[in-house]
Amino acid sequence: MSTHETAHLTGVSKTMLLTVHARAEHTLSDRPRFTDPAAVELVSRLDYDFTIAGQDRLMADGVVLRTLTLDPLVAGYLATHPGCTVVNIACGLDTRFQRLDDGHVTWYDLDLPDVIELRRRLLEDGERHRTIPASALDFAWPDHLEDVSRDVLVIIEGLSMYLEQEEVRTLLDIIAARLPGATVLIEVMSRLFQRYGRERSVEDAGARYTYGCSSAAEFRRTVAPGFTLLHDVPFTRTIARYHPLLAPLTRLPLVDKLAERIVVLRAPV
Ligand SMILES: C[S@@+](CC[C@H](N)C(=O)[O-])C[C@H]1O[C@@H](n2cnc3c(N)ncnc32)[C@H](O)[C@@H]1O
Repeated sequence: MSTHETAHLTGVSKTMLLTVHARAEHTLSDRPRFTDPAAVELVSRLDYDFTIAGQDRLMADGVVLRTLTLDPLVAGYLATHPGCTVVNIACGLDTRFQRLDDGHVTWYDLDLPDVIELRRRLLEDGERHRTIPASALDFAWPDHLEDVSRDVLVIIEGLSMYLEQEEVRTLLDIIAARLPGATVLIEVMSRLFQRYGRERSVEDAGARYTYGCSSAAEFRRTVAPGFTLLHDVPFTRTIARYHPLLAPLTRLPLVDKLAERIVVLRAPV
């Protein structure tokens, strides 16, 4: 593998360069709340100008917050479902496997073919860590999974906000049809932020937010009707965990309405 790789990506796929940079930058910060040395190495090997990514605090802080929200949920699932299968949809250059691998999980990272081609130049697949070059909206992607009789966790981070509502529904329909009983962790942007929030680095990448939903109950009802809603974790809860003085603010109804969240669902059996 060569030392430097050039990324020729556009639109939504380009946004994965922003998110891996945010995790690398946080790792190198004075008091990191998580560390991701693999992200640091990836960024150092990418021939890409990260100046705008480094200037967009809203985007970078959001990525740190969602990592701090999702990592404990995934680690908790691995701890309670030893030997499970994880499917990480729209993985980009995510290195959660490297951060959380428990030595037993079988982990699939799925993204569009161009992204997986770049990813494979930077990171090698392994026996328990494989990549799937496919659209998440293609009904055939579950064919790549070797054994779906085991417990399956599906992670969908940083994708739903770039889809249309019908596409979010299609993605959940695929999971319902092909992965019965799977647990799904999906990041959902609030409708208010989707409509009025601006992140300069995302706009610069040529991507825009097209889907938002303001509550977990509404999400289940509109795009995941066959699923059971287990619970949801607004990012404001993570803020309150790390900054207890802000906790009362995070409970205000308007702040809750603005918050991004991880919705936790169980696919029908
Ligand atoms: C903001 S990045 C998120 C990457 C990663 N989850 C993270 O948090 O670092 C969005 C990702 O969605 C991927 N993506 C967009 N449309 C997709 C589709 N139809 N199927 C699979 N991946 C898709 C892009 O290629 C890109 O890697």
